[in-house]
Amino acid sequence: MDVIVGGGVVGLSVAWRMAREGRPVTVVDPAPGKGASYAAAGMLAPVSEVTYTEGPLLRLGVASLRRWPAFAAELAADAGFTAEGGVARAEARALDLRADGTLDVAFGADDMAALGELAAYMEKLGLPVERLTGRECRRLEPMLAPSVRGGLLAPGDAWVDPRRVTAALLAALERLGVPVVRARATGLLYEGGRVAGVRLAPPSSDQEPEHEPEHEHEPEHGPGEVPGEARGEVRGERVVVAAGAWSSELAEVPVRPVKGQIMRLRSPRPLLSRCVRGTVHGSPVYLVPRGDGELVVGATQEEMGFDTKVTAGGLYELLRDARELVPGVTELEVADVVAGLRPGTPDNLPLIGPSGTPGLAYATGHHRGGVLLAPLTTAILLGEESELAALCAPGRFREIS
Ligand code: GLY
Repeated sequence: MDVIVGGGVVGLSVAWRMAREGRPVTVVDPAPGKGASYAAAGMLAPVSEVTYTEGPLLRLGVASLRRWPAFAAELAADAGFTAEGGVARAEARALDLRADGTLDVAFGADDMAALGELAAYMEKLGLPVERLTGRECRRLEPMLAPSVRGGLLAPGDAWVDPRRVTAALLAALERLGVPVVRARATGLLYEGGRVAGVRLAPPSSDQEPEHEPEHEHEPEHGPGEVPGEARGEVRGERVVVAAGAWSSELAEVPVRPVKGQIMRLRSPRPLLSRCVRGTVHGSPVYLVPRGDGELVVGATQEEMGFDTKVTAGGLYELLRDARELVPGVTELEVADVVAGLRPGTPDNLPLIGPSGTPGLAYATGHHRGGVLLAPLTTAILLGEESELAALCAPGRFREIS
């Protein structure tokens, strides 16, 4: 049996794909779907998210985006997501997957020059991008500020609602009979020189979930179904650490928390029809429109350790910068503010695959791209994708054992 430590989009996706293949698997997480995935905006935007200095990450993102439509279709079907009347919803709608592109806008001469450089780099790589004038940008998005001077459209970029994705993954796991142990893994168990499971924190010392479960339907497993659980451990032939920013508490991985504060606004009518981003006062800001009228504004990037406080300063910066792009945002109702922790790595690439220790593998360090890279991550771990696996090989960091 594989033990997947971490119930975010990455860990749950790995568990779901393995279970689909008929492989026995158990997930361990004190509050599945309530960590970084709960805060994430869900941008599937490899072209507009990555700068020209990050070619390898771009390759991973483009490859994973290609996998998303089939991944979403299979997930929605496995989860049994249906609309009223029992008619199966189109999978894209069930997860709010939309592929209407990202518009990166510029205000001043410096921004325009930076976007121009990025466009040239993208064009050299053969990626589809379109340079637009300010007027063309406003024709696409009439709510943009009049001061927008130009932009770069990445028409192939997409986005999805990560909260729906984790809900779908949990539902799919339940239907496949995968146990989800709601406890914190505090350490690895070793036997005969290999990792043989994880130790669990006693129930009383588990931290309260940061966010209340919003889905009534939480999968449960029966007593005795998970080997060792009664003794405070979960045993398996292999442990996959997919614990995001907390991975370094379990294993020797160079993963650090990178705090992101994010805000959800509610709009009676959609203000935007695609993702819009830009750099304001030197900091990047993005706006992601959801199908239900929600507009996600994100996100700060802060090196604050394991701090998930939402601060007045963080929210002020987000709103100040978002208003520069789309002045109408200040009229909207605030629905939700959250801070999450991205798992950052020294080279901004994830760690996916076997570690140097028998019985231990990683699916962590996805930094800003956990949702985007989930389908590719599962493909690498299941041995379906060898070419890109080398870019994510955990062994590239010498200190990892
Ligand atoms: N991928 C967006 C973020 O990390 O803020």
